[in-house]
Amino acid sequence: MEELSHLSQDFWNNRYETNTTGWDLGTVSPPIQCYFDKIENKDLRILIPGAGNAHEADYLLQAGFNDITVIDIAPLVVKSLQEKYKHKQSIRIIQGDFFEHYGMYDIVIEQTFFCAISPSLRSQYVTKMHSLLAENGYIVGLLFNCSFEGGPPFGGNADEYIRLFKPFFNIDLMEPCRNSIKPRVGNELFLRFTKK
Ligand SMILES: C[S@@+](CC[C@H](N)C(=O)[O-])C[C@H]1O[C@@H](n2cnc3c(N)ncnc32)[C@H](O)[C@@H]1O
Repeated sequence: MEELSHLSQDFWNNRYETNTTGWDLGTVSPPIQCYFDKIENKDLRILIPGAGNAHEADYLLQAGFNDITVIDIAPLVVKSLQEKYKHKQSIRIIQGDFFEHYGMYDIVIEQTFFCAISPSLRSQYVTKMHSLLAENGYIVGLLFNCSFEGGPPFGGNADEYIRLFKPFFNIDLMEPCRNSIKPRVGNELFLRFTKK
């Protein structure tokens, strides 16, 4: 797998070590909370890749979802999650590379993971997501609708996302996000892409 050295495991671990985690909302992302508040089936198999401190997982657990998997490449953050959830059966915490993960899920949550990987890996992200989803499975979450200098985060726009995802996913929904956190207002798309 191609990987930029500055996006390695060490790079991300160092961000947690030095507490330079400006992306971390400290709580569940409001659009994702809103979406899951409407879902009644708590048995759905949910994957959260690049979960970081996994605030979304925390919210889902409290809401009664009982089949959650989180994966992150940074050992430090994963260790703290493993400690936090050591007595919880409903959540599985994996330290590893999303691109090397195998499993079968009904929903994958996208929350500042796509923007964290090298743009050269975007097509691999799409095919990997496709292979991790069950029939009728889908990705739900947020993608940036803006560009950044340097990166991560790496930006993007709706046209690019359609080009990338449409061969493998139905674009059920991709619209300006109505309930972004303040610093991201106007810069996020809320999406749901169902596996073709
Ligand atoms: C920008 S952070 C977002 C974290 C979390 N989603 C949030 O919003 O707080 C990106 C996360 O992806 C993880 N990551 C980066 N590359 C990864 C990979 N190939 N596989 C799994 N996790 C990865 C990093 O360790 C980091 O925790």
